Amino acid sequence: MRAYEKLLLENKAWAAEQLGKDPDFFSRLSHIQTPEFLWIGCSDSRVPANEITNTAPGEIFVHRNIANLVVHTDLNMLSVVQYAVEVLKVKHIIVCGHYGCGGVRAAMTNHSLGLIDKWLRNIKDVYYFHKDELEAISSMDQRADRLTELNVMEQVMNLAKTSIVQHSWKNQQRPTLHGWVYRLTDGILHAMSKMEPGAHVDPIYQYHD
Ligand code: CO
Repeated sequence: MRAYEKLLLENKAWAAEQLGKDPDFFSRLSHIQTPEFLWIGCSDSRVPANEITNTAPGEIFVHRNIANLVVHTDLNMLSVVQYAVEVLKVKHIIVCGHYGCGGVRAAMTNHSLGLIDKWLRNIKDVYYFHKDELEAISSMDQRADRLTELNVMEQVMNLAKTSIVQHSWKNQQRPTLHGWVYRLTDGILHAMSKMEPGAHVDPIYQYHD
């Protein structure tokens, strides 16, 4: 059997198992999704949102990209955020990074990797903002870990700078923004930052409708 054929076979087994546990599982989910959470995570195959939070289909709306970035010109990410906030009315947005992130590590080097250099430039900017703190850390592994944490907090701030989030904070008192980091070596999530509705955003980034 080819590797991809195993995926299709496992899918049939999974669907049967779900039906065995809950006969209405698929018919219920096919009508509506009401997730409370939007997850913006890394594309890394080892950080699957549902598995590591022990949640089921229907519970988390997910967007993933390399190094879990919130780039204000990224129409894909912004469309996901707008839909999640305005239509699904999520209460929380979680930006989740992870220690050992290849994107973060690559951004700390001077290697040219092609198109992805342009994406990783956003992490170099986070490094540059925090250069003094980061370069005081001599271990490159620990420096990468700290950049991972700073990156997540910066991306949370980037969400707070969007008119989508600011408008919803003003009119709906949601969503709360969270910055988390996942450790690959023990499977544990660490909360780094939280921004409640109305949290301070520098005035230059504020929009008054
Ligand atoms: Co990663």
